[in-house]
Amino acid sequence: MITEQIAVDILNKLEDPLLHKTLEETNGIVEVKVKEEKAHISVKIALAKTGTPEQLQLQTKIVDVLKEAGAATVGIRFTELPQEELEKHRASGNMPGEEPGGLLSPNSKTTFIAIASGKGGVGKSTVSVNLAVALARLGKKVGLVDADIYGFSVPDMMGIEERPVVRGKKIIPVERFGVKVISMAFFVEDNAPVIWRGPMLGKMLNNFFTEVEWGDLDYLLLDLPPGTGDVALDVHTMLPSCKEIIVTTPHPTAAFVAARAGAMALRTKHEIIGVIENMSYFESRLTGEKEYVFGRGGGEKLAEELQTEVLGKLPLQQPDWNEDDFAPSVYDETHKVGKIYREIAEKINQQLRK
Ligand SMILES: Nc1ncnc2c1ncn2[C@@H]1O[C@H](COP(=O)(O)OP(=O)(O)OP(=O)(O)O)[C@@H](O)[C@H]1O
Ligand SMILES: [Mg+2]
Repeated sequence: MITEQIAVDILNKLEDPLLHKTLEETNGIVEVKVKEEKAHISVKIALAKTGTPEQLQLQTKIVDVLKEAGAATVGIRFTELPQEELEKHRASGNMPGEEPGGLLSPNSKTTFIAIASGKGGVGKSTVSVNLAVALARLGKKVGLVDADIYGFSVPDMMGIEERPVVRGKKIIPVERFGVKVISMAFFVEDNAPVIWRGPMLGKMLNNFFTEVEWGDLDYLLLDLPPGTGDVALDVHTMLPSCKEIIVTTPHPTAAFVAARAGAMALRTKHEIIGVIENMSYFESRLTGEKEYVFGRGGGEKLAEELQTEVLGKLPLQQPDWNEDDFAPSVYDETHKVGKIYREIAEKINQQLRK
């Protein structure tokens, strides 16, 4: 006759498939109950991660060993290990994809900077790409996550044609202008639309951190989708210490919409490090005269509202295209706009590295 003690002894020897430690070591047995009259046993097991194919294998194994020991029927429930327990094993380097010093670990030296806006088309992606390149030009180790899972645009903007390679179990980001880049664009065929829903989205984003070999980074920039939707929320919860830059156009109403993105950052305790005003003015090449085609004052208004500073103002101007090394949205170091990005990068670097 199987007893609770016998069952515990047997289960204790099984391993958590992700941690490769016995359930005894992970305190993974939450509950064991035997109904003697029917020889029915129900167990509740905590794993590092549930919902994996490995969990299914373990489930089969548990049924086998318990039946071998005399159980007629077996009921199994799974739950995830509590955070404190996970931390213990993470510290010893057994959590795949989240090794000590990993990007998401509390002792990570990487500063996360999300680029957000209230509405679409104000230049988040352009700013993210050029800011990442400008920080890399300052000698910083920089990564860029195209967190706009549906509307990915970073690879095209930077002229990236290669795809990442997989080494061991990790994805190696594509490097361009000294910036390590990862984007949903790398994982879809022929520019197909992405139609995943909520939970998958969060999972994909999480994969961008845990399954990608970022190495040592000073800065990881995130180009967010417009508005205050799911992805922005996921980023907020996944990266509690993320800094934020809000991009706006100079029109006062645009700044008003942008303030919503800012308000969300504040509510989730993300520190806003500044506002970037894009498409601020048009400067005539002939006369040098500035025309404020989209109005004025939006950047300052927003900065004031969010109690932060305007990090820079970018004019309306396209990069010079270079057919040999095509990157349609990247400004050269010597380009007037490229120089403004450099100043913004220096400001950010000073502010964050003091
Ligand atoms: N300062 C600028 N001067 C000229 N064109 C610009 C400037 N900034 C952005 N653009 C252009 O405006 C368009 C929108 O920019 P971008 O894609 O960076 O915006 P976004 O905020 O990321 O948009 P979405 O919300 O769709 O992600 C692009 O075609 C881009 O090349
Ligand atoms: Mg964009």
